[in-house]
Amino acid sequence: MLPHHKNGVNDLSSISDEKKIDTPMDGGTEDAWVSVIQKMDEAYADLVHSQVEVEEKNAELEENKLFFDSIQSSMSDVLIVCDHNGAIQRVNSALENLTGRKGDSLVGVHFTTLVEERFLQKVDSFLNQIRIQPVRDCELELIGTEGSVPLSMNCSPRKNHRGRLVGMVLIGRPLGELQKAYIDLNNTHAELKLAQERLVQSEKMASLGRLVAGVAHELNNPISFVYGNMHALQRYTERLSLYFDAINEGQSRESLKAMREELRLDKLIRDLNSLVDGTMEGADRVKEIVNDLRQFSSTQESEKTCFDLTHVIRTALHWIIKESKQSVDVVEIVPDGLYAFGHSGQIHQVVVNLIQNAVDAMIDSQVKCLELQAVQVGKRVEFSVSDTGPGVSEDNLSRLFDPFFTTKPVGQGTGLGLSISYGIVSEHGGKLEISNQPLGGVRALLVLPSEENDIV
Ligand SMILES: Nc1ncnc2c1ncn2[C@@H]1O[C@H](COP(=O)(O)OP(=O)(O)OP(=O)(O)O)[C@@H](O)[C@H]1O
Ligand SMILES: [Mg+2]
Repeated sequence: MLPHHKNGVNDLSSISDEKKIDTPMDGGTEDAWVSVIQKMDEAYADLVHSQVEVEEKNAELEENKLFFDSIQSSMSDVLIVCDHNGAIQRVNSALENLTGRKGDSLVGVHFTTLVEERFLQKVDSFLNQIRIQPVRDCELELIGTEGSVPLSMNCSPRKNHRGRLVGMVLIGRPLGELQKAYIDLNNTHAELKLAQERLVQSEKMASLGRLVAGVAHELNNPISFVYGNMHALQRYTERLSLYFDAINEGQSRESLKAMREELRLDKLIRDLNSLVDGTMEGADRVKEIVNDLRQFSSTQESEKTCFDLTHVIRTALHWIIKESKQSVDVVEIVPDGLYAFGHSGQIHQVVVNLIQNAVDAMIDSQVKCLELQAVQVGKRVEFSVSDTGPGVSEDNLSRLFDPFFTTKPVGQGTGLGLSISYGIVSEHGGKLEISNQPLGGVRALLVLPSEENDIV
């Protein structure tokens, strides 16, 4: 600024008046001075005007800068501005907070250093992709102060005034705690499902092991007496061969008679029938056992059918009682020919678990009485298993169907029996209830449809 001057032509006239007095000049020179001074004054006025304009522009720029800075710092989305090589030029405070690194220290650093390793392949192609079209909603994770942070990233090209690509702008929206929690939950759920499948599988293998042991034991009986009979038949054949050889050699009646007595052939012939009958009986028993085993081979994929529930109940009971180390009184009120609709193998698994639970519950009971009842009620069948065990405490009643809930010692129960049974019965459109009986012990009630399309 020029402090001693005032703006305006009026002042100039006073100056030129002073000059007229102090310095007498001819008219031409005086005019020239006036015009010079006028020009100077105009230039000065322009200068002052420009100065004001520059100051105004500065203030405007400053305001704009503050405006953009405030927008950037209030953004919850992270902002990364890079040059055409991917080197960071600017970031906002959301990114500083997320990475725990100051913006200045990030300038010049390649933006991929902020990205979790497994997403590098995705972001490596950003610079090429944006030449064709912006990248939208690309899910990736940045390296945050407290672990990786999932973001939905948009990436747009940054161009200069000639329209040439000079860099890119990345804007990432944090997927949010809820979404992160959702992803974690999903992962945990998948892991749990896998663990559960493995447990169910190992439970199946364990029950298969128990079954195989029972079957081996059961098969041993008929097979051993079939064996015994076959040995006897072998010995008898040898004796009969000796006798027939003697007949062929034309030995005398007396010597044949003596031989017949010595070889005890009359007793042998009487025995032959019972030996054959016994062997047949053994073979029949083996056949029955194999038929029973077919219950287990029915898989989930097979069609649901009407199956003989009475047979399923009796088979299950037979095996459990056979295997049980304690002696249990059994009352079986199950009429012949009760039918249910579904997968007989799966229902067999449910029935086995209910009876096994009842038998297990009575291990320390004085009176061990197991009562099985089944009855047809309209279009459904009701089957109940009652025991004289200690019953279930109020606290535990609501947890019986929870997976892994067990009161049995480690290694003796997985606690999956009832939860799997519940799933099976629900899938069959049936009902499974466990309750304490007024006089003690538990009553498990299984209700199943006896015809297709019936839901209990
Ligand atoms: N009849 C019953 N009397 C008393 N408690 C029972 C009876 N049936 C089930 N329970 C209780 O319910 C729990 C869960 O039963 P569930 O059949 O699901 O598993 P589990 O029998 O412990 O193990 P798993 O069936 O895998 O061998 C049992 O541990 C037991 O505490
Ligand atoms: Mg059980």
